[in-house]
Amino acid sequence: MGKIVVFSNRKGGTGKTTVAVNVAAFLADQGKKCLLIDLDSQAHATVHLGVNPLKVRYGIYEALVDFVEKKTWREDLFLSAGSCTLVPSNANLSALDVELNQTTDGVLIFRDFLFEFEGAFEYIFIDTPPSLGPVTLSALVAAQYLVIPTKVDFLSGVGLAQMMELYYRTSANLNPLLKFLGVVPTMFEAKTRIAREILKEFSQAFGEENVLPPLRRDIKVVEASSHGVPIHRYAPRCRATQDIRQIALGIVERMGRA
Ligand SMILES: Nc1ncnc2c1ncn2[C@@H]1O[C@H](COP(=O)(O)OP(=O)(O)OP(=O)(O)O)[C@@H](O)[C@H]1O
Ligand SMILES: [Mg+2]
Repeated sequence: MGKIVVFSNRKGGTGKTTVAVNVAAFLADQGKKCLLIDLDSQAHATVHLGVNPLKVRYGIYEALVDFVEKKTWREDLFLSAGSCTLVPSNANLSALDVELNQTTDGVLIFRDFLFEFEGAFEYIFIDTPPSLGPVTLSALVAAQYLVIPTKVDFLSGVGLAQMMELYYRTSANLNPLLKFLGVVPTMFEAKTRIAREILKEFSQAFGEENVLPPLRRDIKVVEASSHGVPIHRYAPRCRATQDIRQIALGIVERMGRA
């Protein structure tokens, strides 16, 4: 059975996509069979792996519609992006929040869909939009593990609290199997005192074991995404590559424990 990890935070621009894409691509290059599902209509994960969402005619939205209507979907949903497999997204996915709200069991559809092929992968990573809507909830219902990428600044604490509340509600009601693996501090500026202090507060609030290694701020991350390649391939020796390796290993290790 594949291990399903969702990266989520209701706050925008916290590094969800960056961490999801780079961890998936890193582990794929380590020989793990990885699938990355882009569950955001912004399709940034799709772009980051070098696929133009405007050319995605059959993405996660179309496949879910087929699954609901015909109980089947097309195999060309799965794209190969380096060593990683990608289920891409496109702007059509923006309709899904409204459509899922119209049926009572809407948030279970994605879980049932994943169930059809999750055994073919060792790890399935899901990138979610910056919201607490039905699409994000669908991912939380389908996953076994939750990782919350968060910036290390004062305001991020608010988004974190709301995200944790959604986690507790989901694990109490819809998905008792969902485990919180930890926060990933992102765009971390190790040199500033405030960032170090906030990081310490994360450890106190969540417990040290629930704070994964940080991803330091590194312009190479932005460059890699604009080239449509993962950071470890774009700049193998940069500090963000070192960090992604530590984060990926931390996630794998914690999944082994959880
Ligand atoms: N470690 C880093 N150093 C420098 N820039 C970074 C780093 N991590 C992410 N970024 C940049 O910050 C921006 C936001 O990151 P990203 O898209 O991963 O966040 P997100 O949480 O997925 O955003 P959204 O909520 O819109 O989905 C991107 O332009 C990304 O390239
Ligand atoms: Mg994103």
